[in-house]
Amino acid sequence: MENKTGVKILSTGSYVPKKVLTNFDLEKMVETSDEWISTRTGIKERRIADKSETTSDLAYNAATKAIEKAKISVDDIDLIVVATISPDAPMPSTACYLQKKLKAFNAVAFDIAAACSGFIYGVTLAKAFIASGLYKKVLVVGVEALSRITDWTDRNTCVLFGDGAGAMIFEASETENDIVSTYLGTDGTHTEILNIPAGGATLPTTKETVEQRLNFVKMLGKEVFKVAVSKMALAVNKAQELAGLTDKDINLYIPHQANLRIIEAVAKKAGVTKENVYVNVHKYGNMSAATTIVALDEAIREGRVKKGDLVELVAFGAGLTWGACILKINF
Ligand code: COA
Repeated sequence: MENKTGVKILSTGSYVPKKVLTNFDLEKMVETSDEWISTRTGIKERRIADKSETTSDLAYNAATKAIEKAKISVDDIDLIVVATISPDAPMPSTACYLQKKLKAFNAVAFDIAAACSGFIYGVTLAKAFIASGLYKKVLVVGVEALSRITDWTDRNTCVLFGDGAGAMIFEASETENDIVSTYLGTDGTHTEILNIPAGGATLPTTKETVEQRLNFVKMLGKEVFKVAVSKMALAVNKAQELAGLTDKDINLYIPHQANLRIIEAVAKKAGVTKENVYVNVHKYGNMSAATTIVALDEAIREGRVKKGDLVELVAFGAGLTWGACILKINF
């Protein structure tokens, strides 16, 4: 018989590295300008992990804050899901490194790769695992050290990305249903418009792949832009439909922070109240799996989210993947 256990969201936490890389710094690295980057993307600066910091360190810093806020013991966490496309190493998973750093040895830990939609995929997994009765206290982290997989000689991509981490803790509940709805989508027919061509089984790393810079993120920006707008607008509406809600019920939208023009176009196409859209892309650029959860944590700390508010997260990324979830923030 299906177990209908609900989910309570206990806390959020986030961490961004201290080092700031501005558009003016980038002007000295590639042929670009603050004016081009600002008008085309809305990004003014982004954070870059220190050489000594790795993906699991960023994740650890975000997770620790969420654990402290939730007032739980790490021993109670029985599942850790890390969403990332810039792992510590191809093997083992970053979730294993994080488990070791947190000393959360009662937790099963694994990574998911859904690119920029990764955190919303993680929320959906948390909901499903808790509903199944398999796990009771789940830590989901969206984290990226994109600076490590960015081609710093390619102006088409290097101006867009940044590093950071966000975490959320969920627990099984008989009374609460804080993950109100989730909706996910995938279309594997466009794998080539946003990818890292080498370093996997198709094209293992060789001297040639490194020389041709094929181990870095490649993107056809215009193509990605178009699909991103249509799929995120679709996802916003689908998650509301699944919950039986409309724009009027949503207190704050947290879209994937890739590009201000994408955010504005999604809001228009999905018919959402513009004033309810949270933006921090100017400060951090695109942190892939970390963007929505870092933005949500920041919005809560700034008082933009009040106890009992409904927030809708929406994202889109390589795969292609997309998704949206409506969360009740009740802590
Ligand atoms: N500085 C200056 N010029 C740049 C540049 C940079 N950093 N990057 C690209 N250009 C140039 C291009 O070479 C092109 O020159 P050309 O016309 O001589 O060929 C020109 O600017 C215009 O490029 P275009 O692709 O038309 O720009 P755009 O308006 O589509 O904006 C992106 C480019 C990348 C900002 C935009 O397509 C985008 O945001 N795409 C989605 C990216 C994204 O968020 N990906 C992650 C998915 S989750």
